[in-house]
Amino acid sequence: MISTASALAHPNIAFIKYWGNKDQDLRIPANSSLSMNLKELETRTRVSFDPSLAGDQLILNGIPEEGAALQRVSKMLNRIRNIVEFNTFASVESENNFPTGAGIASSASAFAALSCAASSAAGLSLSERELSRLARTGSGSASRSIPEGYVEWQAGTDHDSSYAYSIAGADHWDLVDLIALISKEHKETGSSLGHTMADKSPIQGARVKDANRRLEICRKALLERDFTVFADIVEQDCNLMHAVMMTSDPPLYYWLPGTLEVMRAVQIWRRQGLPVCYTIDAGPNVHLICPAKEADKVKRELGSFPGVKSILECTPGGPTHLLEPDFPGV
Ligand code: PMV
Repeated sequence: MISTASALAHPNIAFIKYWGNKDQDLRIPANSSLSMNLKELETRTRVSFDPSLAGDQLILNGIPEEGAALQRVSKMLNRIRNIVEFNTFASVESENNFPTGAGIASSASAFAALSCAASSAAGLSLSERELSRLARTGSGSASRSIPEGYVEWQAGTDHDSSYAYSIAGADHWDLVDLIALISKEHKETGSSLGHTMADKSPIQGARVKDANRRLEICRKALLERDFTVFADIVEQDCNLMHAVMMTSDPPLYYWLPGTLEVMRAVQIWRRQGLPVCYTIDAGPNVHLICPAKEADKVKRELGSFPGVKSILECTPGGPTHLLEPDFPGV
């Protein structure tokens, strides 16, 4: 009998970043991190365990995938098959409504949706914490896309102690993430490989050692809705991660000239009194974070940059959840 389930997950943007693992296979991170789910961006994934299949199948945005992408999905499915002790293969269909692999953390929503849909299709009923742990094994940041709103991922030391939880609901603070798309190209070095290189930077140790200080400042500013403190710590944390990337061996440069242009402009705007800050993941696009009432002004300012191809506007998002099995469009 074919057993099917579908799930929807949002990607998230980290305010305090995850870079580097204590355990590469289980993706136990070097430091704890903090993020916001992005409501308008969605991954919808349907998983069908089908006894007639001779192997797992993956269709991503309508295109059949093989090789590394399929292997990574199969690894997650194997974890679930081991738990329920069956060996039926699955077909996985997944759609993103945003560009894949361009620094918008598509792997976070991909593995959050996959772990939710696949565990349900396999007959498991996992708690939020269990799902967060499972999603983490596919992509570290996916652990943060499971709970709702503003989310902290406690690094922990092993599989049991490394999971994410919500520290505030989506309606706690009406922050907006304006994603300035500098390039939609697929990045050269994916974050999975990047994490394995983090320890090659002589400053990763200092970044990790100071991470709890930054996290505590950021959490407090977020809970108190103190944008001034929040903005400075978010930018410092982002700059530290990119400093590690650039000083790895070989060095990783995710920025393009347009990235730096926007970063510099954001700092000038803030000095002039506009509450906005930037953060950047493993890609060239710049996430401009501001209170909702400032979003139109920031968008107008951004509109004058020739390097900015388009702008995506995101508000705080909810948790990963199951959809009706035959949800249209999946
Ligand atoms: O979950 P991964 O392996 O795609 O790593 C995400 C790394 C960053 O996006 C650069 C930082 C973060 O905390 O999301």
